[in-house]
Amino acid sequence: MQTELKNADEQSIGQAAALLQAGEIVGIPTETVYGLAASSLSDSAVTKIFKAKGRPQDNPLISHIASLEMLPMVVQDIPESAYRLAEAFWPGPLTMIMTRSEQVADSVCAGLPTAAVRMPSHPVALEVIRKAGVPLAAPSANLSGSPSPTTAQDVLADMQGKIPLILDGGACSVGVESTVISLAGAQPTLLRPGYITPEQLEEVLGCPVAISDAILNRLKDGEKAASPGMKYKHYAPKADVTIVNGTFDAYKDYIREHNEKGVFALCFEGEEEFLPCPCVTYGHETRPDEQARALFSALRELDARGAKTVYARSPEKTGIALAVYNRLLRAAAFRVTEV
Ligand code: TXA
Ligand code: MG
Repeated sequence: MQTELKNADEQSIGQAAALLQAGEIVGIPTETVYGLAASSLSDSAVTKIFKAKGRPQDNPLISHIASLEMLPMVVQDIPESAYRLAEAFWPGPLTMIMTRSEQVADSVCAGLPTAAVRMPSHPVALEVIRKAGVPLAAPSANLSGSPSPTTAQDVLADMQGKIPLILDGGACSVGVESTVISLAGAQPTLLRPGYITPEQLEEVLGCPVAISDAILNRLKDGEKAASPGMKYKHYAPKADVTIVNGTFDAYKDYIREHNEKGVFALCFEGEEEFLPCPCVTYGHETRPDEQARALFSALRELDARGAKTVYARSPEKTGIALAVYNRLLRAAAFRVTEV
């Protein structure tokens, strides 16, 4: 299959919508990461997503809507808290999990009684959904296990020959996937941290939000994941990544002691000049929003430059930085060294 990469404009958005209506899959920009979209209502279209990504069948997808009128196409028994969160954070990088609708394709929910839904804020994503007229199931548009794509070129690198069309809507402004909150249980539970923080959610909900263990810990053998996506390695570059947790001075010393061929530093901006090895940066130390925007492209750059071993500076574990730490921890296969 020939993969076309087109600037998102009225004509190419129309083409994307027509392909989606015909049961095809298309790469589209969102504010978080690029998505690989198909109609949420078509099992055969959604199956193509799993095939193109090499995604395990038991990992459910997020459906994207362009208006609250579309919400009942994906979920039912919608609690009042969902409308309050939607009012505060939609369109934007928040995904909510509720009881699934009858209509949504079984493969979207991967056998679960629940479905995930969000209203993205990227104007191109919204326009594609509106024109297609159906909710769009869209996981991140990377091959399963590799870093999520934050540019159309990243999508092309992973999906060339596998999908007919990618719309280029520029670099993603958030850079990490949406915050995922489950409203399906007794207590609202954060399943994946993102740009919308637990503190922001608690303020709107007026109650505590439980934090899933899987955010900062590896699942134990045989443990069932609340969010199946969290059990897989994920976001992993080809190099072996280790998070080095400590002051910059201790990090510098650690790299000096371990500086062999193929060693790269994944560090914060401005630190490069003090380090003895090749460096890739991901934002400023005090700017978790920059870190989020830069992390996945930094991981891809490390691969492109042939890094074998990567020692990464540690993000904080609060606010937006918690999302960055969570992704980096998976890229590092949970290897953390205290210095
Ligand atoms: O920002 C995003 O959310 C991006 C863009 C494209 O919108 N999409 C995205 O999709 O990150 P994906 O498939 O890479 O991640 C979906 C996550 C997975 O961890 C999955 O297990 C979880 O959401 N999920 C989906 N449906 C679920 C459900 N019914 N119950 C629990 N977890 C669910
Ligand atoms: Mg993903």
